[in-house]
Amino acid sequence: MRDWMGRDLHYLRLSLTERCGLKCVYCREENAACADKEELGLPELSLLLRAFAELGVTKVRLTGGEPLVRRDLEQIVHLAAGFETIRDLSITTNAQGLAERIPDLHAAGLRRVNISLDSLDEERYRRMTRGGDLRKALAGLEAAFRAGVKVKLNVVLVRGENDGEIDDFVALARECPLDVRFIELMPFSALGACGDRRVPGAEILERHPELYPVSARDFSQPSEDYRADGFAGRVGLINPISHKFCKDCTRIRVTSDGRLRMCLGVNQETDLRPWLAGTGDGLYQVLRNAMYWKPESHSFSEQYQAVRAMNQIGG
Ligand code: GTP
Ligand code: 5AD
Repeated sequence: MRDWMGRDLHYLRLSLTERCGLKCVYCREENAACADKEELGLPELSLLLRAFAELGVTKVRLTGGEPLVRRDLEQIVHLAAGFETIRDLSITTNAQGLAERIPDLHAAGLRRVNISLDSLDEERYRRMTRGGDLRKALAGLEAAFRAGVKVKLNVVLVRGENDGEIDDFVALARECPLDVRFIELMPFSALGACGDRRVPGAEILERHPELYPVSARDFSQPSEDYRADGFAGRVGLINPISHKFCKDCTRIRVTSDGRLRMCLGVNQETDLRPWLAGTGDGLYQVLRNAMYWKPESHSFSEQYQAVRAMNQIGG
């Protein structure tokens, strides 16, 4: 459906959990306790997916936290893949446990994954993720390739940390058939709020003049994509701060505790729980109203105060 600005809202980011085995420095605080909020179960997810499909959603991303911590992820993927009108189904994951799960996820209908991978250096990866194992993430990446699942990598650039690896990541896009997306740091967690640690996307293009934009921009994805001659993959830039893409935004979010959030960068939410009991009567109408009034743009600024950490929204 279209909102008051005429934006076609067809991309649902459905968060399955706030839980995650990692604590990436830009996502949440080190000592943040993970509240034991009740997560939406299969019946509630089924009601939601049906209502969103009726409202014109054709693209669904399962997020977290870390979606792999849900033992029923395969069932959820199977459920979502069963909707004929949902043509693009994917997950965003840190890939720590992906290698073992990918065969069953593929069998359930998963055809693409976005993997968070901020460094190709083991020590830096461990530091940025506060405990992650780079070898596990790479094993997940390889297993996805082997299963024929399309991969995009998400690299959140942090000045003074991984910005020295830009060329290595571009080289990866040259060698491998995957998309490497460089993401501007957004103001979540103490680090994310540090504007001086943000690396503007323009810097990548300055360093790599061989990159040229792919012909047609796909507004259902936040990245601007680039190619270069001889590259097997592509480079994407996600620049929410230096180049706001809100006027073309197609996204809707539901948090793992059942709140509809119409913008990543606006702290306004609608509790859907009351409409998720029983047969879900009234859900369609509540969604329609809230979706119509999607905020015009995010409110990220140096003063922005995130009420939820990134893992509590789903990116
Ligand atoms: P594709 O469909 O493969 O393009 O996925 P995606 O880029 O939409 O999803 P992913 O979870 O991989 O997100 C990549 C980055 O884009 C993350 O840092 C998200 O927080 C960011 N992002 C996604 N949607 C929005 C949005 O609406 N606003 C802003 N500011 N950032 C977003
Ligand atoms: N700024 C930019 N991107 C972020 N992500 C998490 N926190 C931030 C932040 N503060 C990204 C992760 C993940 C995606 C869902 O969101 O890299 O891939």
